[in-house]
Amino acid sequence: MKDIKDIEIIVEKLIDSERVAVLTGAGVSAESGIKTFRDPDGLWAKFNPAELASAQGFLSNPELVWEWYNHRRSVLEEAKPNPGHYALAELEKLTNNFTLTTQNVDGLHQQAGSENVYELHGSIVKNHCFECCEPYLSEIDIRDKEIPKCESCGGRIRPSVVWFGEMLPEEAIKKSEIAALNSEIYIVAGTSGEVYPAAGLPSIASNSGALVVDINPNLTAIGKYADVHLAYPSAEILPVIVSEYKKAVGI
Ligand code: OAD
Repeated sequence: MKDIKDIEIIVEKLIDSERVAVLTGAGVSAESGIKTFRDPDGLWAKFNPAELASAQGFLSNPELVWEWYNHRRSVLEEAKPNPGHYALAELEKLTNNFTLTTQNVDGLHQQAGSENVYELHGSIVKNHCFECCEPYLSEIDIRDKEIPKCESCGGRIRPSVVWFGEMLPEEAIKKSEIAALNSEIYIVAGTSGEVYPAAGLPSIASNSGALVVDINPNLTAIGKYADVHLAYPSAEILPVIVSEYKKAVGI
């Protein structure tokens, strides 16, 4: 592999670091069969985010929005974590003070065994009331077109994902910023770096002296902060990093 020198640099840094932080985006779930947003065949090439991923869109056509998220949930029913997810879960157990910030709402990191996960854009498997924000804990029938009603106020239920124009979960963004600030190595995988505030985290890490690693087959906005760019699918290269790490520490 021509990038073996880069992998060695990453492994050495992982061994030396007291704090390891990771940021993931949709590309990490590509090998699980979940479409990204901004690739040529991505969701935003076909669907309008203003219609489907905003409070305004939900108010204009709640049934359409509900149906679209149920369609995405049906795709997720078939999806399984891929070797990239499993590699990150293993890295958490092998390294010190590991944190994983994800923009993904699919829950695949947790399914793979990751524990210290900050979900910046919420979760598609959870729901809450559009009116009173009360969590909705009953099971959803994703084939039912009717939108469930809140058990407290009767309002319509919506998926617990962050829509455009909405605030990020306060604790997740605060902890993610602290993780970026304190990290000695910051691994970014599968994100275009187009959506803030998540896209600002690699620059926080870089400015505070972390080695920033970008894993993405394409060059993106993250490039200007990355000390190392590995142009591979994450499901391919993350397992290589973990196996080289284990070799280096004699596991
Ligand atoms: P994007 O769709 O914007 O970017 C996905 C990135 O993954 C691209 O840079 C691809 O080059 C890269 N990629 C594709 N396949 C890959 C693979 N197998 N391995 C590694 N990288 C790969 O997705 P995000 O950056 O996650 O927000 O998008 C950020 C946010 O924009 C999403 O969380 C979503 C969206 O609007 C909300 O819905 C709030």
